[in-house]
Amino acid sequence: MTLLNKTSIHALNSNEAIPYDLLLLADPSRSLIDAYSSNSVIYVAVIEGAITGVYVLHHINRETAEIKNIAIAKEHQGQGLGTLLLNNAVIQAKEKGYNILIIGTGNSSFGQLYLYQKLGFEIQEIRMNFFTDNYAEPIYENGIQCKHMIMLSQTLK
Ligand code: ACO
Repeated sequence: MTLLNKTSIHALNSNEAIPYDLLLLADPSRSLIDAYSSNSVIYVAVIEGAITGVYVLHHINRETAEIKNIAIAKEHQGQGLGTLLLNNAVIQAKEKGYNILIIGTGNSSFGQLYLYQKLGFEIQEIRMNFFTDNYAEPIYENGIQCKHMIMLSQTLK
């Protein structure tokens, strides 16, 4: 059985702990995570009883939902789980009646920008200085500073 076949995805129940260890891989700010986790549904990927991935689907308005956070446990990255969760987010957003799904990532997150565009998201806007304005510590990635948030979106058909 492949890893992806062994993976199940469900919305986190109120009696399950929020997987902060994973969420912090995508977003170093615990206070921002707590802020956007309200008015969101947190989905987790489970393999053999262990939570190995997470995404946060956040309600923006009747039309639009945003994937605020997506992360895969380090030892399982690069095996298709991120793709599985992003495709699942599209299905969940459609089922909930949203027409637009958006996702944002840093100017320095080349791999994520590649993945999101490969899966049909298109760049819509740049939130200038989002990371320098909202995070206490400077963030460096791939040898450059992460300053701006690149917002991507896809229309759900
Ligand atoms: N660098 C380079 N390539 C990458 C990266 C990366 N960081 N992430 C994904 N890719 C590429 C893979 O090489 C693969 O390419 P291919 O299809 O040509 O073979 C493709 O994207 C799909 O990869 P998956 O295996 O499906 O992705 P994965 O399971 O690793 O999940 C994720 C991607 C969620 C970004 C994961 O690497 C991760 O948790 N990273 C740390 C946290 C993070 O950065 N989260 C996103 C922040 S933005 C936000 O949360 C809205």
